[in-house]
Amino acid sequence: MGARRWRVAILGAGRVGTALGRLLAESGYAIAGVCRRDVSAASVACQWIGSGRPETDPVRAAADADLVLICTPDRMVRAMCERLAGAGLGRAGVVWVHTSGALPAAAMAVAGSEGVLHLALHPLQAVPDAVRGTERLRGAWYGIEGSPEALAVGRALVADLQGRAVEVPAEGKALYHAAASVVSNYLVVLMAVGLCLWQRAGLPREQGLAALVQLMRSALAGMEERGVPGALTGPIERGDVETVRRHLRALAEAAPETGVQGEAQGARLVELYAGLGLAAVELAREKGSLPEEVAAQLRAVLAEARHGGRVGSHEGEQGAGAPLEGDEAAGRENHRVDRL
Ligand SMILES: NC(=O)c1ccc[n+]([C@@H]2O[C@H](COP(=O)([O-])OP(=O)(O)OC[C@H]3O[C@@H](n4cnc5c(N)ncnc54)[C@H](OP(=O)(O)O)[C@@H]3O)[C@@H](O)[C@H]2O)c1
Repeated sequence: MGARRWRVAILGAGRVGTALGRLLAESGYAIAGVCRRDVSAASVACQWIGSGRPETDPVRAAADADLVLICTPDRMVRAMCERLAGAGLGRAGVVWVHTSGALPAAAMAVAGSEGVLHLALHPLQAVPDAVRGTERLRGAWYGIEGSPEALAVGRALVADLQGRAVEVPAEGKALYHAAASVVSNYLVVLMAVGLCLWQRAGLPREQGLAALVQLMRSALAGMEERGVPGALTGPIERGDVETVRRHLRALAEAAPETGVQGEAQGARLVELYAGLGLAAVELAREKGSLPEEVAAQLRAVLAEARHGGRVGSHEGEQGAGAPLEGDEAAGRENHRVDRL
């Protein structure tokens, strides 16, 4: 496809733009203008990339390029394209690429860019800075979206980045990006919740991060080995209804030491635990580890807690720790060596 003969301009050489610029330069692409709002910042980006011309004007940066990488915040992408088209840079044969996960490629289809190929190329990686981004983007997955011709360019670019491409239909873009946000951003949110509970239990936060990250890694390894729902473990997967009740009672009591704000936080913790717990019940059913009558008890307990109901105990009624009917079967399963 001859992609390496293209001259690449980078508009918005921040974290992603600079990291991609470096990888493309390493792969043999010529780098044209590298644009930031401050010329000394643009020079620093060029140093990391290893080539390119520092620019502060996107039109000057893109004037001699045939592949324009737009790595500004999402809200600026269309305005950038309008500036390029307004300056007559929407020539046929040129490729405009943005790296947003949420925007469709059509966001770049402004008046005066009818001959341009519009490609969305979204790295499925968190890029905290250009240096770590360069390492993380090597061999990463990229979501690509656009016309068949644009997708062909995307596949060639991703191959040159030594990455793997997944083709995303334009109408699936928002859900694709929501999927990426859930597994990446919400993992951090889950850790924040875990650390909050860890500290409420009276344990030191410094140890918490190390210990809980290790636990999270073992869950990730489990998913690589056994997939989903195969990797699911824990009290819901084991059908341990009384343990789930204990968790809910402790969560409800955990927060309120600072008045209204604390109570609201306690309610949110219960809601979060119960909402995810209900999803875990269905996953455990899919896995085949949870008898339907125990699943029904768990659904009832979790749904009631989610709607603000008090979580009772069966210990008084049945004797502490006495298994409920359905728990017995699940309990026997738990003694298998491969599930310890
Ligand atoms: N970071 C990630 O983890 C990640 C992952 C996948 C995709 N993305 C996507 O990649 C794109 C860039 O994200 P990023 O994290 O690399 O952003 P970033 O580090 O904040 O860089 C944004 C760049 O856009 C420039 N810019 C900001 N506002 C501007 C304006 N008003 N006019 C002109 N230029 C402006 C900035 O200029 P200055 O350099 O002058 O500040 C900077 O060079 C976004 O579409 C984002 O959704 C990000």
